[in-house]
Amino acid sequence: MNNGNNIIEIRNLKKSYDKGKINALNGLDLEIKKGEFVSIMGPSGSGKSTLLNMIGALDRGDEGSIEVAGVDLMHKSSLNEFRSTEIGFVFQMHNLIPNLTVLENVEIPMYETKLSSKEMHQRALELLKSVNLEDKIDQNPTKLSGGERQRVAIARALVNHPSIILADEPTGALDSKTGDIILSLLKELHQKERVTLVMVTHEPYVAQMAGRIINVLDGRIESSNLT
Ligand SMILES: Nc1ncnc2c1ncn2[C@@H]1O[C@H](COP(=O)(O)OP(=O)(O)O)[C@@H](O)[C@H]1O
Ligand SMILES: [Mg+2]
Repeated sequence: MNNGNNIIEIRNLKKSYDKGKINALNGLDLEIKKGEFVSIMGPSGSGKSTLLNMIGALDRGDEGSIEVAGVDLMHKSSLNEFRSTEIGFVFQMHNLIPNLTVLENVEIPMYETKLSSKEMHQRALELLKSVNLEDKIDQNPTKLSGGERQRVAIARALVNHPSIILADEPTGALDSKTGDIILSLLKELHQKERVTLVMVTHEPYVAQMAGRIINVLDGRIESSNLT
């Protein structure tokens, strides 16, 4: 079904919770091209996070089809490997592990790969340098500011060279100046690494940074406009 340019193809995707009482996705259709940067907007409860969870294979849809990076997510049996190699997550709550160092937190997604501990160390260091945190590698995340933690989360998201970054309100918990730093970092990574970036935001000026803005309403795509 994939036309080659699309890294994400979703058709008539449905997802409900509470034994069908809550319809989070109501037959959603969406295509995203490889290397695109799209923003997703929409009211609270419209299904934005559910959509990202489906794309990132954190959860499975009930009906319809969803193909991401050439993988049929409705039928693939084990999703862990897909998730750790193809997807980088940057969420509002960065869920870093508090009793590990910054460097160790960035290394975690590589434990599932065949890299040696030296290679893991080098890769984590390289990414922490790229987010300007090389002087904090031995710190505990609890000692970092919100913006620094979000930069660790971005480094961790990139560690396995994912083809897609999913960012769910990545600046939602930050002050606007720190948020702007995180956004320019994401944008730079998108340009440099040619990664596909899908970002949920409720700020119109943030959404404008993407090449396309997708509006979600009641679990469907309401509109999609190039910026
Ligand atoms: N794990 C869950 N269990 C039950 N209901 C959920 C769950 N996740 C989301 N929902 C419900 O699904 C709907 C869509 O939620 P969500 O995708 O989080 O929306 P958004 O991110 O746009 O605010 C909401 O009504 C929400 O309460
Ligand atoms: Mg949400």
